Amino acid sequence: MKMKKIRTKIILTALLSVLTGAIALAQDEAPVKVEKKNTVQKVTNLAPTPPMGWNSWNTFQAKIDEKLLRDMVDTYVATGMRDAGYKYFVLDDGWMAMERDKNGSLVADPKKFPSGMKSLADYVHSKGLKFGIYNCAGDKTCGGYPGTRGHEYEDARLYASWGVDFLKYDWCNTDSLNAREAYITMARALQATGRPILFSLCEWGNHQPWLWADGVGEMYRATGDITANFDKDKHMGTWTALSVMTIVDKMPAIRQYNGPNHWNDADMLEVGNGMSYAEDKAHFSIWCMLSAPLMAGNDLRKMSAQTKEILTNKEAIAINQDAMGVSAYRSSATDSLEVWVKPLSNNNWAVCFLNRAGHAQNVNYAWAEHALQDAQSKQSADFTKTTYKLRDVWAKKDAGTTKKAFKQSIAAHDAVMFMLTK
Ligand code: GLA
Repeated sequence: MKMKKIRTKIILTALLSVLTGAIALAQDEAPVKVEKKNTVQKVTNLAPTPPMGWNSWNTFQAKIDEKLLRDMVDTYVATGMRDAGYKYFVLDDGWMAMERDKNGSLVADPKKFPSGMKSLADYVHSKGLKFGIYNCAGDKTCGGYPGTRGHEYEDARLYASWGVDFLKYDWCNTDSLNAREAYITMARALQATGRPILFSLCEWGNHQPWLWADGVGEMYRATGDITANFDKDKHMGTWTALSVMTIVDKMPAIRQYNGPNHWNDADMLEVGNGMSYAEDKAHFSIWCMLSAPLMAGNDLRKMSAQTKEILTNKEAIAINQDAMGVSAYRSSATDSLEVWVKPLSNNNWAVCFLNRAGHAQNVNYAWAEHALQDAQSKQSADFTKTTYKLRDVWAKKDAGTTKKAFKQSIAAHDAVMFMLTK
């Protein structure tokens, strides 16, 4: 009797394991959506709020060297960028020699960086900043320098030995590589170094990273490359650089995937790179509303007073850095006049009026007629019942309360951003 029981148990267990195996197989073959089991599940908390920093690409492309970059680090501090919250100093493409060395290691271009990368990293750290670097999941970077494919663990170890704190990882020359697997491999390589390194995915949103990159990296590019134009894309032959508004229009659909340690990256800022003051202000406002990473991309040494005022506006940055990390929704869009709404901690809100038209427009916004309701955060505000104080973030002044309608002319391509508190 006892033997029979044991045999039945063995048969049942065997059946169960066959079944489990079948289920596991079925899962492996199922189309990839959000699959937590293969993510890296980092234990670090490197980006509880959207990462802030500076990146060399938008202004300098591959024309970077250690003299220029050391000057930039000095200016980063002297202009108050560091004190405003910017933390990372990131070298983009173009820092490497065209070939790996005999041992297969990456080397910094000896002409551009005669003192080597460790020395630059030390300098960045000595100024209280974090050091970031760039490479690519493919055989070569987008600029044609050696890529990381097949060298993930050794490259990660090299970065860690230099003191790298941030890796931007691009997607050129990747042929048939699977994006999710390639990024997971690199994330594991970074993790294996034991050094906390923020991982910034840059596959331009091609493989919907918002569905799988939470737990792989802290930020993931959601779009192609930005260009310093408010609403006109720039055709570059084989690809198209996107205007600020083209990028903005891609963001509402993925707002739900944004949050602490997993940010939708709307690309680096073009503030100070040739758009008008109003356009720069609107661009920065929306990046703040979206909780997008704020990576400045201008020449800090030549920054105008207006550019500096935008990039270091503490109240705008506070909206971007709000601990809840909920991206804004577009609550209305009429005649190129848009209203963006972002729920903030403590039941506060940010509301941004964006004029996309090429001419000034009058706004007449009776708060009482526009209850705020965010399904994602479950936060709501009914201005017929609760009055909020208004703070105009760009005018840097208190602007009454929600009892009175907001009436103002907004210039072409400009934005007015309010912080609402009880
Ligand atoms: C891609 C990225 C850019 C930049 C360049 C460098 O285009 O999207 O942000 O890093 O490569 O070559």
